[in-house]
Amino acid sequence: MTQQQTAGGDVRLTGISKTYGSFTAVHPLDLTVPEGSFFALLGASGCGKTTTLRMIAGLEEATTGTVSLGGRDITGLPPYKRPVNTVFQSYALFPHLDVSENIAFGLRRRGIKSVKKQVGEMLDLVQLGDFAHRKPHQLSGGQQQRVAVARALINHPQVLLLDEPLGALDLKLRRQMQLELKRIQTEVGITFVHVTHDQEEAMTMADTVAVMNGGRVEQLGAPADLYENPRSTFVANFLGTSNLIGGEIVSTGGEIVVEAGGGKLTLPSERCQAPATTGGRLLLGIRPEKISLAHADDADAIAAGRNRVTGRVVDSSFIGVSTQYVVESPAGKTLQVYEQNVDRREGLLPGSEVVLHWNPAHTFGLDADQDIDAGAASVEDAA
Ligand SMILES: Nc1ncnc2c1ncn2[C@@H]1O[C@H](COP(=O)(O)OP(=O)(O)O)[C@@H](O)[C@H]1O
Ligand SMILES: [Mg+2]
Repeated sequence: MTQQQTAGGDVRLTGISKTYGSFTAVHPLDLTVPEGSFFALLGASGCGKTTTLRMIAGLEEATTGTVSLGGRDITGLPPYKRPVNTVFQSYALFPHLDVSENIAFGLRRRGIKSVKKQVGEMLDLVQLGDFAHRKPHQLSGGQQQRVAVARALINHPQVLLLDEPLGALDLKLRRQMQLELKRIQTEVGITFVHVTHDQEEAMTMADTVAVMNGGRVEQLGAPADLYENPRSTFVANFLGTSNLIGGEIVSTGGEIVVEAGGGKLTLPSERCQAPATTGGRLLLGIRPEKISLAHADDADAIAAGRNRVTGRVVDSSFIGVSTQYVVESPAGKTLQVYEQNVDRREGLLPGSEVVLHWNPAHTFGLDADQDIDAGAASVEDAA
């Protein structure tokens, strides 16, 4: 099904902020959500996601700044005059109405009598054709959520706002609904702005993710770009897991060489997000799945040119697709290594002396004047 889009356009936030008394929930924010994109606002609880969303919806008055849609300033418009609909975590369907009538609600309210065709299209879109005459309490959580989405989309909003809409679902259902919502968005082509604290959810669904921290957007980009090129320790730790190793810069050029943990590690200078001068400090980042492990006895077999640090396995967990190791190393704190379960080899037992090695190209560099643990503690999954 294709939607007729009349006056499409980007959502543009300019200098938008929100203060409650002396507390700033959202610092002045500039953000453009391209028309037709699936955009995620990602961050820990309390970082200002809902407030930002509510300012787009008009449910919260901005302290400063403007919201525009397709070039039109809508800052002064009340919620019901904005071409925007919101789906909340508590989707509050009308319990006495069946699925069809819940979906038809927005049309009925506008006095539209012949709703059958449009409701039918929506039922198809969210694949609930067989459930048209059920009441909400006769549906699963995921089905109720799809009714809520259909109920919003039937109004043909230019933008659909979703505030943790999958938060109440169990993990498996949430994964299914993520793919389902993505499919629906692709099909209708409407701009979706999705708020979540779940980084996997944001990465699975969104074209663009804005990582928020303390009322500010810390970094914005495509999921793979954020993951591979975090610009701060917060993003490196909040989005997946990063090993961060502090060291001193011994030379610069096409490659930066850093002394850390008694050895030398290199990274391509274009992957360094901080000014690099000889004698200065740097944090080197490496993702756990990019590291290989060798027994210390087999260290001679490691190809030349790889970054390597020594360590001792302190913990290992077999989780099916991979084995996750925790390794103590003179390079700093404990390091995480994920080894894909491709060839069954005997796991490395805790106590094993190992060498961790990886392609220097996978190393990223961050400013050392940051909290090395920023973002790490706030990763909690509400599953
Ligand atoms: N009406 C309000 N009055 C005072 N503080 C508020 C109000 N609404 C939200 N806040 C505060 O603003 C911050 C951001 O809230 P919110 O946008 O709901 O965060 P998130 O959705 O990311 O969890 C939080 O610290 C919250 O306590
Ligand atoms: Mg919220």
